[in-house]
Amino acid sequence: MSVGIDEISFYTSNYFLDLRTLAEAQQTDPEKYYVGIGQEKMGMAAPDEDIVTMAANAAMPLVAEGAGERVTTLLFATETGIDQSKAAGVYVHRLLGLSSNCRVVELKQACYSATAAIQMACALVARRPDTKVLVVASDVARYDLNTPGEATQGCGAVAMMVSANPRLVEIDPEVGNYTEDVMDFWRPNYRNTALVDGKYSTKIYLKSLKKAWENFRTASSLMFTDFGHFCYHLPFGRMAQKAHQHLAKLNKCALNAEQLERQIEDTLLYNRAIGNSYTASMYIGLASLLENCQQNLAGQRIGFFSYGSGCVAEFFSGRVMDGYERWLHRDQHRQLLDARQELSYEEYLQLYRYPDPRDGEHHDIPATTTTGRFRLAAISNHKREYVVC
Ligand code: CAA
Repeated sequence: MSVGIDEISFYTSNYFLDLRTLAEAQQTDPEKYYVGIGQEKMGMAAPDEDIVTMAANAAMPLVAEGAGERVTTLLFATETGIDQSKAAGVYVHRLLGLSSNCRVVELKQACYSATAAIQMACALVARRPDTKVLVVASDVARYDLNTPGEATQGCGAVAMMVSANPRLVEIDPEVGNYTEDVMDFWRPNYRNTALVDGKYSTKIYLKSLKKAWENFRTASSLMFTDFGHFCYHLPFGRMAQKAHQHLAKLNKCALNAEQLERQIEDTLLYNRAIGNSYTASMYIGLASLLENCQQNLAGQRIGFFSYGSGCVAEFFSGRVMDGYERWLHRDQHRQLLDARQELSYEEYLQLYRYPDPRDGEHHDIPATTTTGRFRLAAISNHKREYVVC
């Protein structure tokens, strides 16, 4: 039986900072960002947005008009947890009006956990093919100001419906995994921003790719040349380009640089405008490929490399289904990105520094700033209050 991604939708804040603005403020050459790391803009969450509102906005089109009725599990992947105990997905469950018989759980392993969620979802659906599993991945990537990581911030959420006989991408059961206890990127509970050993993190990313690929090859008969396109975890676009060249070299691939670039270039488009969205980024890359590739992808195999610092990595594969184009949300996604508002450097700092209340007082979040359907309206008595606009 075929199991995989039946529908995909993403969301990001309506605010962004152009990396040229950041470069100017830092007196850095903007080409370092535009070319050197391959990024142009980064999404900045408004005070009334967080992983819950972004996830609910991303998932809304997938559950419209009763489509959420067969959802028996909601898996929420994030590394921007808002509570040490309660799963963020429970808020999303209410905002989307899902059945009270639907189970909800949050998963964490840095940027990798959405892939764990997809694999678990496939297993659950294989066991009960009449059911669907909603996977959401939502993150706000934050680093300290004036650090090398600052230009690789961003925010976004992706929602994917996993079902039997999927309309978009069938996921193959064979996987390759790699796990190693390393400190390349982490965020202790008492910090709002991540700590990172930047150069080391890029080395570990490439090492994990090699190891996960080698493990994948012991499980699958697919070879590098069987794949038409590749989706990599996208902390920034240049990382995927380096990874793809690395994998091609390992496989002694005869394709030239231009041909290799064509295998990943469409996956990078949305992320270049959104920035890093951690757990969501590889899957926003998948949406970017499906929605922007000029070729008909039906029947093509896609290779996926999911990486979560710390680290856990996985290489897996999928096959694009016939007629997939009909089920995409291309227009909404393009409108979402086109309608965003550019921030000045001062406005960016204001959003960056927006206070995160830690007392039990009542804090109304200032006048609506998100254009999304869901917003965080207040934090009162240590409780987050979400509303539908
Ligand atoms: N014009 C063109 N290119 C330029 C340039 C210019 N004027 N100036 C610099 N560059 C190039 C550099 O040559 C370099 O290219 P190569 O990597 O091909 O050598 C590139 O721009 C970046 O320059 P630096 O190496 O000097 O950049 P940096 O050290 O200041 O920062 C970084 C790079 C370490 C990756 C930093 O962005 C960072 O720490 N980011 C966060 C961590 C991260 O994303 N790690 C990725 C792997 S971990 C992961 O994937 C999990 C996750 O999501 C975080």
